[in-house]
Amino acid sequence: MAGEFLSDVEAIRERARKHIEQGAVIEQYQGDPHQACDLLNTALASEIVCVLRYRHHYYMASGLHGESAAKEFLEHANDEQRHADRLAVRIKQLGGAPNLNPEGLQTRSVSQYAEGESLADMIREDLVAERVVIEVYGEMIRYFGFHDNTTRELLEELLQEEEQHAEEMSDLLFLVNPRTGEAEGVDPATRATERYISGSTLPAPKDLEKGKSPERKKVA
Ligand SMILES: [Fe+2]
Ligand SMILES: [Fe+2]
Repeated sequence: MAGEFLSDVEAIRERARKHIEQGAVIEQYQGDPHQACDLLNTALASEIVCVLRYRHHYYMASGLHGESAAKEFLEHANDEQRHADRLAVRIKQLGGAPNLNPEGLQTRSVSQYAEGESLADMIREDLVAERVVIEVYGEMIRYFGFHDNTTRELLEELLQEEEQHAEEMSDLLFLVNPRTGEAEGVDPATRATERYISGSTLPAPKDLEKGKSPERKKVA
């Protein structure tokens, strides 16, 4: 019986009628909608940068494995665009506006637009960007926790796809350049990620946990 689980249904109905101009944001929303939109706009900018980077790689891929890599890049670009659209919809639901201003896009993004010179470079940059997004989405999921299930679930779905993207880039990198990193005994993706994070715009995880807007380091 619903009554055993729900609090006063009449009170819920009453509250739903109040402040209907706030759309999906109900009085009982546990989080801070402004903070949520700020974080989601960071994710949105990151997705758009990923769309642009993957599209650039799609057009520039060449060589023996160029065709198969280009196909993968295009699929990922389209996935990232879909992610961006889903984030924009959620931002609007929370009463915010998706920030699509090209000015400052790279600054708002945690992923970087790196063109790469060779096909292996391109794939490595894509893998690094995926790994950065995976870490940041993980932090955001912990931040949203139980106070915003819808946003948390959205980010969890995106995270699953980013992990799949990373795996595909990792496989592709091995196909294109199976010897990369072997001489040093270091996983090339790990090394590239460390290099990237040290000068990246990655928000400090502690700030996400405290619910503050991400403070970004200056890119070196
Ligand atoms: Fe994405
Ligand atoms: Fe991705």
